[in-house]
Amino acid sequence: MKKIKINISDGIKFPHPYILKARILEIPVNIQKGEEIVLINKQGKIVGTGFYNPDTYKAIRIHTYGEAKFLDYKEIEKRIKKAFKKRKEFFDEEESFRLIFSESDLLTGLIIDKIGKGFVIQINSAGMETKRELIVKALKEIFEPEFVYEKSDSFARKEEALETIKKLHHGRLKNPYQIFTEGLFFLVDIEDGQKTGFFLDQKFNRLEMAKYAEGKVCLDLFSYTGAFTTHFLKNRAEKVFAVEISEKAIKLLKENVRINNLDERKLTVIEGDVFEKLREIKQWRIGFDLIINDPPSFTHKKRKKENALKGYKNLHSEIFDILNRRGILATFSCTHAIDIKDLIGTVSGVQKNRDFVIEVKKLLFQSPCHPVVLYFPESFYLKGVVLSIS
Ligand SMILES: C[S@@+](CC[C@H](N)C(=O)[O-])C[C@H]1O[C@@H](n2cnc3c(N)ncnc32)[C@H](O)[C@@H]1O
Repeated sequence: MKKIKINISDGIKFPHPYILKARILEIPVNIQKGEEIVLINKQGKIVGTGFYNPDTYKAIRIHTYGEAKFLDYKEIEKRIKKAFKKRKEFFDEEESFRLIFSESDLLTGLIIDKIGKGFVIQINSAGMETKRELIVKALKEIFEPEFVYEKSDSFARKEEALETIKKLHHGRLKNPYQIFTEGLFFLVDIEDGQKTGFFLDQKFNRLEMAKYAEGKVCLDLFSYTGAFTTHFLKNRAEKVFAVEISEKAIKLLKENVRINNLDERKLTVIEGDVFEKLREIKQWRIGFDLIINDPPSFTHKKRKKENALKGYKNLHSEIFDILNRRGILATFSCTHAIDIKDLIGTVSGVQKNRDFVIEVKKLLFQSPCHPVVLYFPESFYLKGVVLSIS
């Protein structure tokens, strides 16, 4: 077992799982990219075990704390089973959910989403690349799934200097793939959709916001394939407007409304940039009762936060121009770089020059299949605020 000595205080049991290059004190020669190594502190005590990658400043990614333990087949199987048991506390057999959330499940650089009766995996670190066969084998043996598809195309791979990989490793996949989740059918574009095809992190929030939809005029901004939209239609919204820039996503949105036998006459889909379309919508003089604002992450970097906040301020300013009195807005941020206080702060600016009161009704978070762990603050990334005006 090769050992890397790092600069870390004695007694720290759960350091951040990314150890930067600058903290390395001693490193043996001939370590390969992605190789597993044991970490020791200055006193020679074991801090944990992880992967080494010389091609990124996040040179070490810890997967085990406090002991020297490599991820062999048995260990990967054990961690997947443990994560599954944890998810079962919230979801039943048929549901789609995130099974492995990388550092939160002590499998750094690995995302596994259960999408219907199959799995979509995403490998985001050089170390996890070396475990591909074991991961696929474990999924096949534990769950006997319909398919295991790898969609390793995230930005994180660029940081680790890894190529995009999209490949069916097991079974058959009919793409788009139909799932039944949260009481509705959805077509999921596993091969070319965003993330692993479906935003599982918003599961509970969609159900929560659908409670407000009955008889309401709703606006679903950044709608993707219409998960909020379909829930609103199901819950008897009077009208739903959805705005989305991706043509492919819009095609699936329309299909999703159709396969659930929902009233298509109540739906208006607007293809284009939300920032532009909001200005157009304002000219229509429609007041909305319920608005969802679920943009992509404007930044993952704390240092670029100011620009992202400007984006939110602009959005919120336009949104409050078209929200009815007693109307509800749920606005989300899906990046760790913007916390809940920042998000509310972007609304406070809008409040200053309006003649109505904006009230925080509820805070929302990522669904529990994306566990938040305190040794990895970035695991807390999705937050939402439900606001009302009077
Ligand atoms: C976080 S996802 C929304 C997920 C969706 N609410 C759901 O529950 O499935 C963000 C969406 O915004 C879309 N998008 C990104 N930039 C956009 C823009 N400027 N205008 C409109 N849509 C945009 C993306 O294509 C993506 O579908």
